[in-house]
Amino acid sequence: METGKESTAASAASEGLRGVVAAQSSIGDVNGEKGILIYQGYDIHDLAEHSSFEEVVYLLWNGKLPKKAELEALNSQFRSNYAVPAEVISMMRTFPKEADPMDVLRTAVSALDFFDNNTGSHSTEREDALKTSIKLTAQIPTIVAAWERIRTGKEVIAPKSDTNIATNFLYMMRGEMPDAEEAHMFDVCLILHADHELNASTFTTRVISGTLADVYGAVTGGIAALSGPLHGGANTAVMKMLLEIGSVDKVESWLDSALAAKRKIMGIGHAVYKTEDPRATWLRKYSRTLGEKKKELKWFEMSQKIEKLMHEKKGMFPNVDFYSASTYYMMGIPLDLYTPIFAVSRISGWTGHILEQYADNKLIRPRAEYIGPRDLPFVPIDQR
Ligand code: COA
Repeated sequence: METGKESTAASAASEGLRGVVAAQSSIGDVNGEKGILIYQGYDIHDLAEHSSFEEVVYLLWNGKLPKKAELEALNSQFRSNYAVPAEVISMMRTFPKEADPMDVLRTAVSALDFFDNNTGSHSTEREDALKTSIKLTAQIPTIVAAWERIRTGKEVIAPKSDTNIATNFLYMMRGEMPDAEEAHMFDVCLILHADHELNASTFTTRVISGTLADVYGAVTGGIAALSGPLHGGANTAVMKMLLEIGSVDKVESWLDSALAAKRKIMGIGHAVYKTEDPRATWLRKYSRTLGEKKKELKWFEMSQKIEKLMHEKKGMFPNVDFYSASTYYMMGIPLDLYTPIFAVSRISGWTGHILEQYADNKLIRPRAEYIGPRDLPFVPIDQR
């Protein structure tokens, strides 16, 4: 009788699918050795410097930068779709106020499907899937902002249809317009988080859409995958860690005890990058700029010290979540909205990958290396 244990000695399975190429894609590429991230051929630094989130979304979906009229057309489609169906807002009012915003987002996005009047909302044809992608990109920010208002007992703010996604989100969440510099930084944050090849949540959306399930279902699954602390949940965990440490002078001793206890330092390390994550370069800058502006540099300084020590002690680098934590904190954004904000951006990459999957679909169905026993005789229940 085989016990199955033999097979573990020389395993054919790649742990966590590391290094496995699971799809062809022209949406984005990560060069982990050199620390390069591109979207459809364009370097992330160029896009962060010169582009807007809406332009990047067009790029991810269409494989080329838009002409002026094309960008204007997409902008007006987003803006006319900012408002979330009243039924979904009413449903959200019934949720427990302490519900995790990622769980709220997951449930609300799933429910949007019921109120989509496009008869093709379940179709996988590009034209229909694109319509849903536009709605979701426009409405996820509204849901996240509305939940913040609802749970704090404030009036839900109607979207401002003459502003871009970044400005509109900050406006709906706070009830007042952000200053232009902050709105621009937030827009760049959305660009930086838009796509990252086959990360866990994007892979999830590809697996779901690969069954020809609809866009709402695939994105709902993507939100669930993003919520975990080893993925999008890390940005909130970073800020909790900074608050737990409390001050710059406590960083080193805290870190030594955490490493001795084999704790993972949130926001550090990456499954693909073996050098600086190019997105962290921008967020480090923003964390410092906002810290200086708000005269509260301690979070930036603590982060910088952790970064230095983790590099010295473990040869590790910060990832996208590390400095986004103190950047969002300086923007006054509640901790548990950091991961939903990741979704506000990543919806663009998810839907780009879903469109790509539908366009040339093959059901994703890998194999498992079976390591359980075989040939066991069935024992009747009263004899076990
Ligand atoms: N802090 C301390 N040690 C870490 C670490 C961290 N953040 N990340 C990895 N390591 C260590 C592991 O303990 C392991 O050590 P070991 O070989 O002695 O057991 C080694 O580095 C490899 O770790 P592993 O988890 O297998 O690396 P990975 O490349 O598969 O994991 C992450 C990548 C992102 C899951 C991991 O670095 C991590 O958990 N980081 C913190 C969470 C985070 O920021 N996630 C957001 C990612 S964008």
